[in-house]
Amino acid sequence: MKNRRSFASDNNAPVHEDILQAINEVNLVDVIAYGDDIYTSDAERKFRHYFESDVEVFFVFNGTAANVLSISHLTNSYHSIITAKTSHLNNDECGAPENFSGCKLLTVDSPNGKITTEQIEHFLNSRGFEHHSQPKVISISQPTELGTLYHPDEILKLAKFANLNDLYLHVDGARISNAVAALNISLAEMLTYTGVDVVSFGGTKNGMMYGEAVVFINKAHANDFKYLRKQSMQLASKMRYISAQFNALLKNNLWIENARQANKMAQYLAQNLKNLPEILITQEVETNAVFAKVPKRIINPLREKYFFYLWNEEQNEVRWMTHFNTTKDDVDGFIAKLKSVL
Ligand SMILES: Cc1ncc(COP(=O)(O)O)c(C=O)c1O
Repeated sequence: MKNRRSFASDNNAPVHEDILQAINEVNLVDVIAYGDDIYTSDAERKFRHYFESDVEVFFVFNGTAANVLSISHLTNSYHSIITAKTSHLNNDECGAPENFSGCKLLTVDSPNGKITTEQIEHFLNSRGFEHHSQPKVISISQPTELGTLYHPDEILKLAKFANLNDLYLHVDGARISNAVAALNISLAEMLTYTGVDVVSFGGTKNGMMYGEAVVFINKAHANDFKYLRKQSMQLASKMRYISAQFNALLKNNLWIENARQANKMAQYLAQNLKNLPEILITQEVETNAVFAKVPKRIINPLREKYFFYLWNEEQNEVRWMTHFNTTKDDVDGFIAKLKSVL
């Protein structure tokens, strides 16, 4: 029998009951469309509270749109965007960043998903040379696609470098709540006071049904973004159904609690794996993902019960993810099955 858990992705998770309830609550009345409603202004207020700044917030349907619109808005087609080779922007958005922004992506090797100013510096040699695209945005993911984290000091360093060199710093925060929970610091300490310009703030992977937010911390850059969102088909007419979800997520610390549970279960999973000599954990487990090299023979039998993705086929490296609804029993069941196929 298939298991109710897959360990494949936090995208496979159900919707948190508080989110469903919030959707039901806004379903009782008519309100003005396109975000001109009290639920949307309430959600925007909550973002300003957590960012500790007068940020501009724009809700969109998905994470790819949040990333692509953030960077498109800050660039012209002759610009380039510097990002990790492993980034979602580079690998998993079907060329949307290039298609919508027209920009070239300049990628940096990043065995642990992170990039540094030292790796970026040489791209600036293209500055002023009309035959080369002109670097304009650094895009990092927090946490990275490999589940690893930038310490706020590292973000600060990147932001200072960006500022000095006329670059913008974008953060793909599809799982930003997991980063905040893991580092145990405030959102403002991580993003506002470090000097980030714009953030893709994720909701879907942390218990929402759908919906992400583009948050311009540097408000000056938000000018006219609303036109780009509409032109890019990301303006929800029934906006309240996204806003209500963010209201519930950002209420009573649900965003942190959900993320904390996901992170805790990844730690629990990793601890159990450490007793299995044939399983080699390949990345530091800092948020809700566990990457591991496993014997090839176990992959299919294990996947029959618990679906998951093969991250690097040549190396038999897999990714196992937990989410807000993963329990200790789920992990115990997974480990029991894993032991039975080893
Ligand atoms: C790091 C990261 N950024 C962005 C996204 C984009 O999400 P979506 O599938 O909603 O476009 C994902 C989705 O898995 C992701 O892992």
